[in-house]
Amino acid sequence: MEVVDSVRRQGRSLSQALPRAERQLAAGPPRALLRERAYGLLRYAPRLDAWLDALVTQPLRARDAPVARLIQLGLYELFFLRTPDYAAVNEAVALAGRLGRPWAARLVNGVLRNAQRREAELTALTARVDSARLAHPDWLIERIRGDWGDAAEAVFAANNARAPMTLRINRAKTDIETYAAMLRTEGIGAKAGRHAPDSLVLAQPVDVEALPGFRAGWVSVQDEAAQLAAGLVAASPAHRVLDACAAPGGKTAHLIERAGGTLDITAVEIEPDRLARVDDTLRRLDLSAHLLAADAGMPRDWWDGRAYDRILLDAPCSATGVIRRHPDIKLLRRASDIAGLAERQQALLEALWPLLAQGGRLVYATCSIVPDENQRVIEHFMRNHADATEWPIVADWGRAMTHGRQILPGEDGMDGFYYACLLKAPT
Ligand SMILES: C[S@@+](CC[C@H](N)C(=O)[O-])C[C@H]1O[C@@H](n2cnc3c(N)ncnc32)[C@H](O)[C@@H]1O
Repeated sequence: MEVVDSVRRQGRSLSQALPRAERQLAAGPPRALLRERAYGLLRYAPRLDAWLDALVTQPLRARDAPVARLIQLGLYELFFLRTPDYAAVNEAVALAGRLGRPWAARLVNGVLRNAQRREAELTALTARVDSARLAHPDWLIERIRGDWGDAAEAVFAANNARAPMTLRINRAKTDIETYAAMLRTEGIGAKAGRHAPDSLVLAQPVDVEALPGFRAGWVSVQDEAAQLAAGLVAASPAHRVLDACAAPGGKTAHLIERAGGTLDITAVEIEPDRLARVDDTLRRLDLSAHLLAADAGMPRDWWDGRAYDRILLDAPCSATGVIRRHPDIKLLRRASDIAGLAERQQALLEALWPLLAQGGRLVYATCSIVPDENQRVIEHFMRNHADATEWPIVADWGRAMTHGRQILPGEDGMDGFYYACLLKAPT
């Protein structure tokens, strides 16, 4: 369970830690099992922590974290996956033998056997303690309840659910009906998404390599909520476009696909190795863009002085709208991160506004459900920029906020996302 430990103890993200561990395993069932366990242990970490505390007489020392993880793996197998008792306990005990802590095998065995006897007590504990019941840290529970009131319970449930696999059809190469028929031929069930016109939601996740034409760029994997960006930016070949925070390039590619396959678009990304992922994305799809490894907040270092007709600012954020896809966020994010993120978002917006042409449109997006990162950023910005007007998003997805529109996780099967559109008044 090194994946879970590297998230919990070294603060690494699951998307960094998991691929590394997956490469050491054969493709197919062994990797699927690793994913299931890593996601499960992170998704339910607050509940598994509460259970572990109740089951051990003395807290385990920090250096014995691998033993704690092993017990939690056994608990997850027993009570979530309902693996037969003997198999779950025996496996955990066998793994304990390999940890180089001879005492661990007995402890793991004892705690798991005890857990089976005390299942009713663990169930009562779950019902009594919010962080265990909702499997979220206390600060986030408080925040989500404070911000979303009656909708909060649905948000918690959606954050703990498995996300669907949604495809984006490359309309420069195929169309929804043709591609859905190709999927059917391969025995893959799919239905068109409700809101994003290029989306197909799969009945079951599949390996991307099993998708017809994936290597040839007919299709990409992207949640329906993220696909809404392209419709809002509405870039055409007549426009000069900036995608300010571009990696891994899903939205850059979609903007080009929607424009018919060619677009004058510059994709800026601050992390060079992440910019390489934009390049990979575009190569697979046979698309091109001007790629820049640069700080979008420091345009004087890279801007050529020619205004953009469209700017997409898909800002770095708390990612609280995509917890179902990245359960590590529950453990990595802190309440104190939010103010700093809001400052960065504000600074990016300020820095990019002068680059927008008069009459041009800027789309501000986050995968956050925290109002401080969303409508409050826009509200603050508009208060200080008389040349900014809001273009109200009229849509049947999400909900209208004081500024912009918010989708909560799970609504119509989508990730949580926020969008606002700003227009620059001609002078
Ligand atoms: C939400 S992700 C963008 C997702 C992307 N638009 C897509 O659809 O694939 C935010 C990205 O912004 C990058 N970033 C953060 N601060 C930045 C800055 N000051 N300038 C440019 N990129 C930045 C992060 O490294 C990250 O890759």
